[in-house]
Amino acid sequence: MCNVFFENSTRTRTTFELAAQRLSADVITLNVSTSSASKGETLLDTLRNLEAMAADMFVVRHGDSGAAHFIAEHVCPQVAIINGGDGRHAHPTQGMLDMLTIRRHKGSFENLSVAIVGDILHSRVARSNMLALKTLGCPDIRVIAPKTLLPIGIEQYGVKVYTDMTEGLKDVDVVIMLRLQRERMTGGLLPSEGEFYRLFGLTTARLAGAKPDCIVMHPGPINRGVEIESAVADGPHSVILNQVTYGIAIRMAVLSMAMSGQTAQRQFEQENAQ
Ligand code: CP
Repeated sequence: MCNVFFENSTRTRTTFELAAQRLSADVITLNVSTSSASKGETLLDTLRNLEAMAADMFVVRHGDSGAAHFIAEHVCPQVAIINGGDGRHAHPTQGMLDMLTIRRHKGSFENLSVAIVGDILHSRVARSNMLALKTLGCPDIRVIAPKTLLPIGIEQYGVKVYTDMTEGLKDVDVVIMLRLQRERMTGGLLPSEGEFYRLFGLTTARLAGAKPDCIVMHPGPINRGVEIESAVADGPHSVILNQVTYGIAIRMAVLSMAMSGQTAQRQFEQENAQ
C-alpha cells in the first residue's frame, strides 16, 4: 500500500499506515514535497512509477476536488484507489469514523440532533458527514456558520441552516466542529479570527445550551481559541481523540475490503483470459 499525500496530514496518513501494518501489508509513504514531483514530474507519471513497483493500493490525498476519482478512472487500472481527502469534495474514511464515533457514544441515529459548525464552505468533512448522517437516518442535521462560509445550495443536503450558535446548538446531541480552512480561502470571507471565535467559537458557556450528555467532535487539526475553547476540547464532552483511535479500525476495514475487491477482479480477469 502506498500513501500518496499531496497535502499535509497527521491523522489520516498515520492511521492508514498503522491500519496497513496491522493487516500485514508492506507500506510506503511517499513524501510528495521531497519527491521528484518537485522536479516537474506530473501526478500521473509519479503514480505510474509507483504502479510499476507493483503497488496494490494507493491512498491519495490531494488539494483538488475529484483527484482520487480522476486517478481511479484514468490511471493505474490494476491499483485500488482510496480517497484520503480531495479538496473540498469528500473525506470518506473521516465520514465513516465519525459515524462509528457517534454510534459508539450514542447507540443509534434515531432521534439524534447533530450540529456541524464552522467553515462548511471549504470542508470535505462536512460534505461526507452530511451525506453519511442522511444515509443513516439522522432526523435533525444542522449546519451553523456565517453566511460567507456556507455553500450555495446547502439545503439540498437535507440540513437546517443556522447563522446563530445559541439557536443552532439548542438541545443537540452531537456537535462536530470544523477548522477554518485558510489554505482554501480566497478573499476576505471573515473580518478576523477573533470575530469568528466571538460569534462561532465553541465555548463552555455555549455548549451549555446543548443536551447535558452532548458529545463534541472535531476531525482535527484543532485550532484552540479559533473555533474551540481549550476547556471544551480537553473537557468531559470531548471525544476528539476517540475519533482518531476509531480511525484505525475503519481504515483497516476499508483496506481489507479494497483488497478483496482487487483479488476478485484479478480472478475474474484470469478466468476470462483462459
Ligand atoms: N482529519 C484529518 O483528515 O486530519 P489530517 O489532515 O491530519 O489527516
